[in-house]
Amino acid sequence: QAQDVEAGEKVFAQCRACHQVGPAAKNAVGPVLNGLFGRKAGTVEGYNYSPANKNSGITWDEATFSEYIKDPKAKVPGTKMVYAGLKDEQRIKDLTAYLKQFDAS
Ligand code: HEM
Repeated sequence: QAQDVEAGEKVFAQCRACHQVGPAAKNAVGPVLNGLFGRKAGTVEGYNYSPANKNSGITWDEATFSEYIKDPKAKVPGTKMVYAGLKDEQRIKDLTAYLKQFDAS
């Protein structure tokens, strides 16, 4: 099935407790997720990452993001992101489409 931005926005409700997106977004429990795709992990200015995230060597693209969000602690052992994981491929695609709307700025 195609990616569905509106469905992705609903999935992002699970992330909002810790992450902000959009023009007014600020770092919170987790870093701002604007401009995620194409960015190196651990590089949002002003956010205090764990060494595990900062030194993961990951560049976020659809493949690495999908692996990470399925099981954050498996992809980045030692990350301080506490999230059990999103296993459903369609929901991951929808969430990806939602997040791609927000450019870095
Ligand atoms: C880090 C996405 C849910 C807290 C990250 C990163 C991504 C991400 C991509 C790495 C960012 C980077 O390298 O710049 C998401 C998504 C979520 C979600 C899409 C929902 C599906 C949560 C929740 C929490 C959380 C619920 C808090 C309970 C954090 C923290 C970090 C982080 C603390 C920094 C990790 C570290 O420095 O080790 N998140 N997240 N996230 N997230 Fe999430």
